[in-house]
Amino acid sequence: MKDSLRHFSPQAHVPVDAPTGGLAPIGAPLLEARNIVKRYGSFVALDDMNFFIGRAEVVALLGDNGAGKSTLVKMMSGINPPTSGEIFVNGKRTELNSRAASERAGIETIYQDIALVDAMSITRNIFMGREITTRLGFLDLRRMEEVAVEILGSAVQISGIDNPRKEVGFLSGGQKQAVAIARAVYFKRNILLLDEPTSALSVRETEHLLGYVRELKSDGTSSVLVTHNLYHAYMVCDRFVVMSHGTKVFEAAKQDTSIEELTDHVIRT
Ligand SMILES: Nc1ncnc2c1ncn2[C@@H]1O[C@H](COP(=O)(O)OP(=O)(O)O)[C@@H](O)[C@H]1O
Ligand SMILES: [Mg+2]
Repeated sequence: MKDSLRHFSPQAHVPVDAPTGGLAPIGAPLLEARNIVKRYGSFVALDDMNFFIGRAEVVALLGDNGAGKSTLVKMMSGINPPTSGEIFVNGKRTELNSRAASERAGIETIYQDIALVDAMSITRNIFMGREITTRLGFLDLRRMEEVAVEILGSAVQISGIDNPRKEVGFLSGGQKQAVAIARAVYFKRNILLLDEPTSALSVRETEHLLGYVRELKSDGTSSVLVTHNLYHAYMVCDRFVVMSHGTKVFEAAKQDTSIEELTDHVIRT
């Protein structure tokens, strides 16, 4: 093993593929997708894609529009099962063919297209589908509001939101995104998938989110960050995977690459 990779993260990697700089995990990663093909009719959106998420690491998923990043994220979140290929969770072959299956595997996703209900309060949106109930089975609104206030204040600090009863429809795009992030943060699992989470955020909200990704890592939660902003990626990620035409074209650990090299691979492909 290369000496530079030995102390890279709790999840060590070995180089396997010279042309793409491909890396393979040592031991079972949290999640591994092997030889994934995804077809939409005759269109091939993922073409023999290989990807893994190690323990307590932040992985950047990079590539131009249409590269297949969102398709891969949706596959890992269970809403877009692959046409063929295998997925392993903690080394065990697993079918991620529903949102529930992906949640059971410890995966939480923040999508590019936010899925919130405008007519419901911030609190109800955060807890949608996973409401806290009293022992008698009624919705425990008071408890949910307490938690909502806590996470809105600590995790994401959404500018201008002080009342968790506010309807989501009255929020700005950035604030809505932040509610989606608060939701994911509260239900945090082993793996957080963030598909262009900062596109609607202010500079301050973005800094906060990126800081949070690092904090989660120190708590042992891994993240996958899809972003067009290579500076953001370089700031918070431990490993970089560049996709083009549905497959991996470059991969490197942070200490073995640079923003310039990553930019080059994203533009060239
Ligand atoms: N539901 C779909 N039906 C047909 N084609 C799709 C569908 N979803 C995505 N695609 C196509 O798959 C390719 C990859 O898309 P996507 O994963 O969204 O790329 P990225 O997130 O990297 O921009 C694109 O060419 C896109 O048009
Ligand atoms: Mg996308």
